[in-house]
Amino acid sequence: MNFESLNWNILDRLRGTFLEGKPVRRAYWNGTEDLAQYDQTFGERIGWKWDALVRELKLRRWNPPADVDHLIDWGCGSGVAGRRVLAAFPSLRSLTVFDHSPHAVGFAAAQAAARFPWIRIVQASAAPSLKDSMVVLSHVWNELPLPIAHELLAQLSNARVILWVEPGTHALARKLQAVREEFIERFDVVAPCTHHARCPLLASGHDRDWCHHFAPPPALVFTDGNWVRFARRAGVDLRSLPYSCLAMVARPSGACPAPPLPWSRTLGRADVGKTHATLHVCSNGCIRSVGLEKRAAPQAHATLKRDPLAVLGLIHEPDEFGAPVRLILHDAKSMNPQSSAPG
Ligand SMILES: C[S@@+](CC[C@H](N)C(=O)[O-])C[C@H]1O[C@@H](n2cnc3c(N)ncnc32)[C@H](O)[C@@H]1O
Repeated sequence: MNFESLNWNILDRLRGTFLEGKPVRRAYWNGTEDLAQYDQTFGERIGWKWDALVRELKLRRWNPPADVDHLIDWGCGSGVAGRRVLAAFPSLRSLTVFDHSPHAVGFAAAQAAARFPWIRIVQASAAPSLKDSMVVLSHVWNELPLPIAHELLAQLSNARVILWVEPGTHALARKLQAVREEFIERFDVVAPCTHHARCPLLASGHDRDWCHHFAPPPALVFTDGNWVRFARRAGVDLRSLPYSCLAMVARPSGACPAPPLPWSRTLGRADVGKTHATLHVCSNGCIRSVGLEKRAAPQAHATLKRDPLAVLGLIHEPDEFGAPVRLILHDAKSMNPQSSAPG
């Protein structure tokens, strides 16, 4: 991204529309330049959230089912989500881009063709059937009028794989929690949950909580003057990338739900003080806050102090005091808090 080439008339207008967060009746992309401006700025920032989800899927050793090689990017915009997923999973051989803006469809298709010339690309001018497909949805829910949102959910219930990323707001995260609840009979959850029990944050008493995470931005955000100036001018905090997500795979008919995994997923950001850190975690149907004392777990405390987002989950191997003894780090390492080095 080159700060000097940014067009702030376009970027301010687009950002204003996104911040409204309301259903849109008319496409707001006025031409290719709008999409090019978005793609290298706000779109790239969304790409970092997709990087976080993809990293988690890889860490969980998840791949698309062998007989699914077609991807649909629904509400594609500039196509950043579809491209991130194509880059991550080379078994995908074709892509349909769909948006109610023909400018978006054309831009997303051209970008994907340039990056993945071996992929067959379909430009859809009407909502495609999602039956048996792998679908990506990104930052689209807020913009859909109710009848279209209902139709989309009905279509999604026939999909094979759903990968969905939205901003980490209370309303959108809880929407994804509700979709999970509705689909759990027919789908296995791949991320962010480690279980198929009812989402504990939907239980009474948790109305003010929401299942969200923070994506780490790439290091260049702090060193590249273009990004530093962009963040200042746009008024966005590039260090804070809250997102909510849902990755689900249709369960073969008659199959049992996958068993819960033996670890808990962290939620939000760890609270890290001078001598103590608290992680909020979700596991088989319950939410807990887990404390780590610096004295007992110096390495883990130091890791969290450096980066409160470093921990993806906890493996509970209770010792005689019932304490968790292993942290799963986002960079695919695991760490014994009592030892002095990652394992
Ligand atoms: C905030 S943008 C996100 C674009 C892209 N998915 C991303 O993550 O960068 C929302 C997109 O949804 C599209 N959209 C809004 N309403 C739509 C509808 N009813 N049908 C299809 N696409 C729609 C918009 O045109 C826009 O491209």
